[in-house]
Amino acid sequence: MVSDVSRRSVTTLHVPLAERSYDVHMARLGADEVVEKIASVFGKPSGVAVLVDEHVAQVSPRFAPLLAALEARLPRVRHFPLPRGESAKNLLSVERTCEWLAQNGYDRGAVVIGVGGGAATDHAGFVAAIYLRGIAFALCPTTLLAVVDASVGGKTGVDISAGKNLVGAFHQPRVVVAIWDSSTRFPNARLPPAWPKWSGRAHRRCRPFRRA
Ligand SMILES: NC(=O)c1ccc[n+]([C@@H]2O[C@H](COP(=O)([O-])OP(=O)(O)OC[C@H]3O[C@@H](n4cnc5c(N)ncnc54)[C@H](O)[C@@H]3O)[C@@H](O)[C@H]2O)c1
Repeated sequence: MVSDVSRRSVTTLHVPLAERSYDVHMARLGADEVVEKIASVFGKPSGVAVLVDEHVAQVSPRFAPLLAALEARLPRVRHFPLPRGESAKNLLSVERTCEWLAQNGYDRGAVVIGVGGGAATDHAGFVAAIYLRGIAFALCPTTLLAVVDASVGGKTGVDISAGKNLVGAFHQPRVVVAIWDSSTRFPNARLPPAWPKWSGRAHRRCRPFRRA
């Protein structure tokens, strides 16, 4: 169900999956508001592992405030830089992330927050699907593709030499909060006229999971 939608603005897309339902927030929110959306679905996690595309961590003016707001609101917040873009989508990189999670004592009560484009969100979702046989996660997508497609539907995974996205798992995020900024690969952080069609397409991709 798309709520608060018009030709010019869409703020929240509700993905109805019974007990696995979640919201995709697309409004341009301040760091505290982003963290409030995230904290409201997690309650009191034992720790927060922020997995961020290393390039996004460097160039996005929104990452440092987001991290600071997470640290102020939630316990044991640490961040781990992922290789830029598609370089994060391989099993070696996933193993490194899982090792880092284990070395830092993240347990089943911890949550993952993936920050970046579709490659980082696919990596973060897959790590959340397999670490300790599955922990909760949220996504903060930073590219248009990641907001309208990669973050919606619960498809996570990585590439292997035989092909792209050949290893993965279905694992739904608890919430998705887009991080638009001046460096986002989308002009003026505004949604295009085709947005209702794209969001509808993303929503339709979720239908099989409603029956699952
Ligand atoms: N899970 C799914 O359902 C699904 C759907 C579609 C695509 N995908 C996957 O998404 C990936 C592509 O995602 P993408 O197009 O977002 O590319 P990407 O994640 O590879 O990012 C592309 C580049 O943009 C940079 N970048 C990201 N956000 C930025 C920002 N705010 N400012 C500056 N630079 C930024 C990244 O560092 C990277 O260099 C592919 O791996 C594809 O398989 C997954």
